[in-house]
Amino acid sequence: MNTMIKVIFILAFAYPGFVQADDFKKSDLKRWREQFDEVADEGRRLFTSPDLGSNGVVCAQCHPNGANTHPETYPKFQKQLGRVAMMWEMVNWCILNPLEGKPLDADDPEMIAIHAYLAKERKGVQLDPGRH
Ligand code: HEC
Repeated sequence: MNTMIKVIFILAFAYPGFVQADDFKKSDLKRWREQFDEVADEGRRLFTSPDLGSNGVVCAQCHPNGANTHPETYPKFQKQLGRVAMMWEMVNWCILNPLEGKPLDADDPEMIAIHAYLAKERKGVQLDPGRH
């Protein structure tokens, strides 16, 4: 065993803290929760505003309170796309079709906000990937 690996082993067994994830405090949890809620609120705003499209249509017209978006079922086969897809691809399908808008990148902050909002609406629902 080379010396570097030995040192890592000794550290890992002698100091359990060495292999644990970063410590965090209650104040961190509160801050992270607030950041999540802020992003989800922005998602709700986008979901109910015509900003994402070009024709005045909003997501919430067809999906009131996130209805029928089923974030817990992704990834899954989607008829419209003809393959197993992620939810952001269906968000883009709806931006392009009913809203006649421009698709967003998967990691666009607006796309992340929409996902945060839809996932929050379905909080507690069991994950069921692939379900129809
Ligand atoms: C004119 C009505 C309409 C509007 C407006 C609309 N959608 Fe949809 N949406 C649909 C239809 C129809 C489907 C396809 C149904 C299916 O295959 O489950 C769908 C599917 C979806 C799905 C996948 C649902 C599932 O069960 O897997 C998501 C997520 C979604 N829409 C998000 C959005 C978002 C975000 C917006 C706004 C950018 C939006 N939709 C706007 C009609 C609409």
